[in-house]
Amino acid sequence: MAGAWIAYTFSRTSKTDEVVFSIGAGTEEIRFVKKLIERFEGENPATKVALNVLPAPTDQQHHYYLTTLGAKSPDIDVVRIDTIWIAEFASAGWLEPLDDYITAENRASFIPILEKIDVGDNDLYALPWDANIGLLYYRKDLLEKYREKPPDTWEELISICKKISRSEHIYGYLWQGKQYEGLVCNFLEFIGSNNGGIIDADGNVIINSPHNKKILDFMHDVIWKHRISPPNTHSELMEESSRHLFQQGKGIFLRNWTYVWDLCQKDPFLKNNVGVSPLPKFVRESSVYGGWHLAINAYSKKKEKAWQLIEFLTSHETQRELAMNLSWAPTKSLLYKDPEILQQLPFLPVVERSLEGVHMRPTLPYYPWISDILQKHISRVLSGQTSSQEALEDMQKRLVEVHNEFSRK
Ligand code: GLC
Repeated sequence: MAGAWIAYTFSRTSKTDEVVFSIGAGTEEIRFVKKLIERFEGENPATKVALNVLPAPTDQQHHYYLTTLGAKSPDIDVVRIDTIWIAEFASAGWLEPLDDYITAENRASFIPILEKIDVGDNDLYALPWDANIGLLYYRKDLLEKYREKPPDTWEELISICKKISRSEHIYGYLWQGKQYEGLVCNFLEFIGSNNGGIIDADGNVIINSPHNKKILDFMHDVIWKHRISPPNTHSELMEESSRHLFQQGKGIFLRNWTYVWDLCQKDPFLKNNVGVSPLPKFVRESSVYGGWHLAINAYSKKKEKAWQLIEFLTSHETQRELAMNLSWAPTKSLLYKDPEILQQLPFLPVVERSLEGVHMRPTLPYYPWISDILQKHISRVLSGQTSSQEALEDMQKRLVEVHNEFSRK
């Protein structure tokens, strides 16, 4: 599969002088980005842009970049990268430092996430383009019918699901349980809300804890004991498959990212029947940062033009458009006070508040190894192949090994 994409990119781009913007995203998102690109080309007649469209799931895009950027290919200029790849790609030398391109004023206008994760060894490697966090979508009509409010705690969520599904033929909670990066995000949100963690501020692995055991048991039980999540949660549910179930009216609650708000607003039934709130908690609110950032391929031959495109895509005006048309949470601080966006995106204050204490996935060059260990073990618990305690002990051991191995390098 990766081979086919590479062939596509190479044959297409080698014949032209266009800036190639490589992006994996949903269909609606790509459609809108095309419109933005047309506007950019209208304003900059000397620059043409070609889109290199990849599949939306982050893991598939990651494989693609390992082969293209890893091969030092100059055929991509601008890359939309997941927040978890920044440290890895920068330390591999695949990203162009942006310090000499950006003005101090522009840099300061971004949300503070930029200084937290786009900077490595004092160099700036990417700019945030979409500030994503996990939210709880709910069926307002059903909660009203059964005189319930959006739950504050996970225990409340379970009891609401059980109450409603006694009379309605519907699942309670839809989330991302398949073995892939989305599962890690869901796990980190759950453990964060129970004061658990995987690696502490000093770099110690702390995954094997009673806080985390409670969470793994909980994730297993929502599927198999409380039966509020579909049995295929662990084998099939990703962002899009869980969203589809929700839009088909098959779930009361859905955990998903901000883009889902816009799609629900375009759905004639859900438009008036969907609400959105922070994810429930055990002891505290917790969200994982899931943003997408823009970077320049270090081997690009069109870096000036690539920067021009990034400046346009991350500008105040374009960010505003992305918020209004795709419900992407903006990455420019001022837009969090924009009355029209606040009206359109009722969850914006939740994002703003969450960004202050947001849970980052470890910003380490070897994050893919960490993620792989988490994905495999959590998945085994969900499918009943191992107990929570065994999985935690094994994850603790494996994470320490990976950490030691990479710190020696
Ligand atoms: C979303 C997030 C991204 C995360 C992915 C997991 O795309 O923005 O950060 O890695 O979901 O599926």
